[in-house]
Amino acid sequence: MAAPNIDTIVSLAKRRGFVFPSSEVYGGLGSAWDYGPLGVELCNNVKQSWWRWLVYERDDIDGIDSSIILNRLVWKYSGHEATFNDWLIDCRKCKGRFRADKIVDNKCPSCGASDWTEARPFNTMLQTKLGAVADDDPTALAYLRPETAQGIFINFMNVQTTMRRKLPFGIAQVGKSFRNEVTPGNFILRTREFEQMEMEYFVSPSAEHSKLVDYWVEQYLEWFGSLGISRENLYLYEVPGEELAHYSKRTVDIMYRYFPEREKPWEELMGIAWRTDFDLSTHSKNKLDEEGKRVNPDSTEDLSYFDEPTKQRFYPHVIEPAAGVNRTVLAVLMDAYSERTNDKGETRVILKLSPQLAPIKAAILPLAKNKPEIVGMAKAIKRSLQPLLRAVYDDTGGIGKLYARQDEIGTPFCITVDHQSLEDEAVTVRDRDTWEQERIKITDLAEQLQKRLKPYPVAPPPEPI
Ligand code: GAP
Repeated sequence: MAAPNIDTIVSLAKRRGFVFPSSEVYGGLGSAWDYGPLGVELCNNVKQSWWRWLVYERDDIDGIDSSIILNRLVWKYSGHEATFNDWLIDCRKCKGRFRADKIVDNKCPSCGASDWTEARPFNTMLQTKLGAVADDDPTALAYLRPETAQGIFINFMNVQTTMRRKLPFGIAQVGKSFRNEVTPGNFILRTREFEQMEMEYFVSPSAEHSKLVDYWVEQYLEWFGSLGISRENLYLYEVPGEELAHYSKRTVDIMYRYFPEREKPWEELMGIAWRTDFDLSTHSKNKLDEEGKRVNPDSTEDLSYFDEPTKQRFYPHVIEPAAGVNRTVLAVLMDAYSERTNDKGETRVILKLSPQLAPIKAAILPLAKNKPEIVGMAKAIKRSLQPLLRAVYDDTGGIGKLYARQDEIGTPFCITVDHQSLEDEAVTVRDRDTWEQERIKITDLAEQLQKRLKPYPVAPPPEPI
């Protein structure tokens, strides 16, 4: 079972400390969200899983962390200044403003009228000004990056030479991106500030690019599976030619069933694009156009690559899997959501998060909080587990309530310390998904938990094509 709709997750997220509406004390800020104590852990665990999977477990990918604000020329030559637009239209009746491509049946979503202004482009890069300058000084204009990818392209040569890389190899980056979305919404699905996990995989111009797109689609389906996202809630969308970004020759979107209650339930979770050699060549000083003129008279570098075996110099092509942290977190939460009825006929929410993603791995609960020996033992167990895994101590309610709370936030194991523990040096370990309980010696606890918390195995990557 998955969540029946996004609203179910919005209310769970707020109730239990995953995600809060931002700036609430001033009435909020449309479509901005703050990640609470459990949300920040879940986001970090998603990012760590991704980083471990690509940068540590493979041998062909390095990580970087580039600036959010780059030289404005990066966005000129990447094509974003000219083309990173949404097409806007206004409803003449209610004055509502919408994205032209999101209008269904030519009807205004607010008032139902069909009286529109002409569509006009709106650049969605968020602007800022650098330095102590006058408000209207155009030389101070800078952008908050709309994708992390460009920080990777402009560092291609730095990484390739310092890490002595030969093609094929990849560069991964995770970080915030910003877009002045016209119609943000649907919780953390579409916001103006969000986080991306992007990887640029550099290959020869003669590589089998389309096969490489398929390869990375398969890899990501595997990884999403390891996060607990069911394959049946994912759908592959081959982006048609007219919808491709200016740099792409082929893109496959992995869609998630974010709207199970709707006739059209799918929305993009991530995209895998063949970006050709567009980015490396556009930032290069030696690239010439068809008339023999420099494509980029401002660049001081050439981002071409010399291939030793063929003695040829060329601009590598790029296969780019680009995923959103926030959309992954939302898909993970929706897929993990389940309900179960207890002996008393009460419905309980269980968040069946993959153990590697669970914000808290083990909760240590004393059965009697007025008994100092039991409390002392529970706190000592928490301290002994903490270096190995995220554990918390909780005595803020009766045991039934404490179990319910931990189930709802996805904690895989509850460990109860009772009177018997003082005698037999053992505790009760309760499994979140089965509610089964097992008595385990305190001396064996750490090893037992670590064994059970191991990430679901991800298949080792096949040899690169
Ligand atoms: N470098 C390519 C690129 O940025 P994209 O499809 O525009 O491609 C990649 O973005 C991913 O970033 C999306 O699939 C989505 O997961 C996430 N993303 C994009 N815009 C977003 C937004 N406004 N809010 C939340 N996530 C977003």
